[in-house]
Amino acid sequence: MEPDRLNSPTTSLINLEVLGHQLQFSQDPNSKHLGTTVWDASVVFVKYLEKNSRKGRFCPSKLKGKRVIELGAGCGVAGFGMALLGCNVVSTDQMEVLPLLKRNVEWNTSRISQMNPGLDSFGSIQVAELDWGNEDHIGSVAPPFDYIIGTDVVYGEHLLEPLMQTIFALSGPKTTILLGYEIRSTSLHEHMLQMWKSNFDVKISSKGQGTPLFTFHSSVFFFSSGTPFSQSLDLCILYLGHLVYK
Ligand SMILES: C[S@@+](CC[C@H](N)C(=O)[O-])C[C@H]1O[C@@H](n2cnc3c(N)ncnc32)[C@H](O)[C@@H]1O
Repeated sequence: MEPDRLNSPTTSLINLEVLGHQLQFSQDPNSKHLGTTVWDASVVFVKYLEKNSRKGRFCPSKLKGKRVIELGAGCGVAGFGMALLGCNVVSTDQMEVLPLLKRNVEWNTSRISQMNPGLDSFGSIQVAELDWGNEDHIGSVAPPFDYIIGTDVVYGEHLLEPLMQTIFALSGPKTTILLGYEIRSTSLHEHMLQMWKSNFDVKISSKGQGTPLFTFHSSVFFFSSGTPFSQSLDLCILYLGHLVYK
């Protein structure tokens, strides 16, 4: 039997538990824009943070007050994962996506504070327009950031160059970059890895020992409103650790 899925082409509201908080993300099933949908990679990304938040580099004591920028945020799920661990997040996307992104940020921020009066572990989330490669947009978010994150933003060959340029422009010597995406095209994935390697000395720190990838094959089970749903993904969390400029 096909398990219930969290998302479908007609779903307008996604209920998602993130780090013990019940969040709700509106999406627009009628829009043709990719940013008005919650993509699987963003859900896997926050579950990855959850799983790794007890100790190590993703625990709240290490992340408190860190500056994070999310690129191509869409509905804003991944940014909430970082904000719930104490980070101050700037959640960015193209102009057309910002109204829905702002609605999701405002709704969930006020829900978190209403449900948890006095909670001081939540950082903050602001929304800003950032078109990849736009120098004015990049300058106005005041780089460098401690973390640059993006989920499902590696999907088009033509977008790779502006995405990478933007990441480079937002980075400093201590920036950590976290990208989570489904590997839909091996050649695109290989191309991106080559671009990283030609621009940076990449110090990889991952459980994969020698491999930059955490690959989630098979089934990852999450729970939404008490209902299990399963997700078969070929998702890669690419963790680029601290980058050292060549
Ligand atoms: C597949 S969606 C992923 C959305 C969200 N990160 C998620 O995982 O649910 C790709 C996102 O990249 C954004 N995007 C695509 N091209 C962009 C560009 N040139 N500048 C800024 N954002 C862009 C889209 O607006 C969209 O939100």
